[in-house]
Amino acid sequence: MTCTTAPGKIILFGEHAVVYGRPAIAAPLSQLRATAVVEDSRTPGIRLLAADLGTDIQLDEAAADDPVAAVVRQLQRAAELARLPDLTITITSQIPIASGLGSGAAITAAVIRALTLHLGLAPLSSDDWVSDLTYEIEKIHHGTPSGIDNTVVAYEKPVYFVRQQPRNRIETFAVGEPLRLLVADTGQSSSTKAVVGDVRRQWQANTPLFEALFDGCGRIAQQARQAIEDGRVAQVGRLMNDNHQLLQDMTVSSSGLDALVRTAREAGALGAKLSGAGRGGNMIALVTLERETAVTHALQQAGARSVLTTVLAPTSRIPDNGL
Ligand code: MEV
Repeated sequence: MTCTTAPGKIILFGEHAVVYGRPAIAAPLSQLRATAVVEDSRTPGIRLLAADLGTDIQLDEAAADDPVAAVVRQLQRAAELARLPDLTITITSQIPIASGLGSGAAITAAVIRALTLHLGLAPLSSDDWVSDLTYEIEKIHHGTPSGIDNTVVAYEKPVYFVRQQPRNRIETFAVGEPLRLLVADTGQSSSTKAVVGDVRRQWQANTPLFEALFDGCGRIAQQARQAIEDGRVAQVGRLMNDNHQLLQDMTVSSSGLDALVRTAREAGALGAKLSGAGRGGNMIALVTLERETAVTHALQQAGARSVLTTVLAPTSRIPDNGL
């Protein structure tokens, strides 16, 4: 039996604009994880079991666009295996689905790692490879992914990310002072594919406006990276507020997200914004240790389905700036 896990993620700065080549910053959410277990089976074929998703099917019966089946099929092709052994693949996840926390990418990355390790295909369980294959599967989930979700869940590190050809620019960065973030769930589900598609339609209909909004997000992400490195925490909070405004202008916020963002700020957060695709899902609020409890309670009172804390701990930059 082989068991592996992968974390959820939060986008700190630059969602949507990152799809259009502007920089963005994201971090793993290590306390919420997807788990994949691969076991040899006595019954023929490959059984895919995901109770949370209501899935219990044989690989042979799975639709062409079933993301978990697609992982197994792509892996078989990549490893040039004529035949796979009889297996049961069981998936569980603590990451709420369609909530902006990268549940799809985490499930995919966990399955890739568990399968490659179980089948003795160790080179294919490297972070680079897991990220690349997760990206291929993300395209099935939501059309035109930037690549930031698969990068964060595969490497499990905060990243400064720019989508570009031929290789994305992926950099780690120093964290000068701890960043204490609350992650609060509106309880409204939202399809990343639908929201990203709608932003694309709006961009096509009014390109100058959307290019200007994306440029604004890109500038904010650059300034935020500098502020995070310098440990200017209050400035990071202000930049989160500015980023939320631009996301509102893109029409990807929602009344539920705006209410939680307002509540967090009024209860003393240094800044707050939606995180991920928007129109539901989660928001994040930057807090001091002193205000953490008050802001958490305020968010719960305002109807957040869950509130959890994650801390970006101080680090120094990795010398080659790579992963
Ligand atoms: C989704 O986590 C973030 C978006 O920017 C889409 C993407 O980057 O692929 C909305």
